[in-house]
Amino acid sequence: MQVSEALHKRKATRAFLPQEVEREKIIRILEAARHAPSGTNTQPWQVAVVTGEKRRRLGDLMETAFRTGDKGAMEFQYYPVTWEGIYKERRRACGLQMYSTLDIKREDRQRQQDQWAANYRAFDAPVMLFFFIDQILETGSYLDYGMFIQSIMLVALEEGLATCPQAALGEYPEIVKQELGYPKEKRLVVGMALGYEDESAPVNSYRTPREEVEQFTRFFD
Ligand SMILES: Cc1cc2nc3c(=O)[nH]c(=O)nc-3n(C[C@H](O)[C@H](O)[C@H](O)COP(=O)(O)O)c2cc1C
Repeated sequence: MQVSEALHKRKATRAFLPQEVEREKIIRILEAARHAPSGTNTQPWQVAVVTGEKRRRLGDLMETAFRTGDKGAMEFQYYPVTWEGIYKERRRACGLQMYSTLDIKREDRQRQQDQWAANYRAFDAPVMLFFFIDQILETGSYLDYGMFIQSIMLVALEEGLATCPQAALGEYPEIVKQELGYPKEKRLVVGMALGYEDESAPVNSYRTPREEVEQFTRFFD
């Protein structure tokens, strides 16, 4: 698969088949992604691959926390504290696109909550990935991490797999670290759902728009 084809094909996938993912495939993906660049070759990534009973338990714990009103908190500021302007609009459009595809109405709080809660089960994907980083590393390493995570998503496609990067899986770091035996000092960055796409699921049927190149680029001669 051409890199450009993978870039076009990749999408946030939010429904998966129950089919397990072969361990060799996961290893091949990580073996390719570890070639991602990082400043001074820091390689800030530390990955937890969670499947089977552990995945179910972790998903249950996070979903229960969410449903019982624990708002959780990520360990770094990912989104703006106050949404404004074009970013506020794009964020709104992103939510609307999903809810209208699923025919979830504005006033149907229950279905909205259920759809959001599915995040904590990684949309029932058979594999949950968690990305950790050491506390001493700074903003630049988060930039490096993004390249690593995108590399995983592109190579996953080549393996016939689908992904959803998930900030939501970073919202209950204490639960995740406790369950997986990671030290408190380690920071949880985000997580990812990985598995075979359920192509019949409506939630996977739409594509998000992008701005045209001339809208975000200026050429200088
Ligand atoms: C770091 C990161 C975190 C994200 N977190 C979530 C999430 O928690 N839940 C979710 O449903 N989608 C999440 N997304 C997916 C975005 O909503 C999605 O990438 C965006 O709407 C563009 O759509 P596309 O990925 O299908 O092209 C995340 C994406 C990134 C890159």
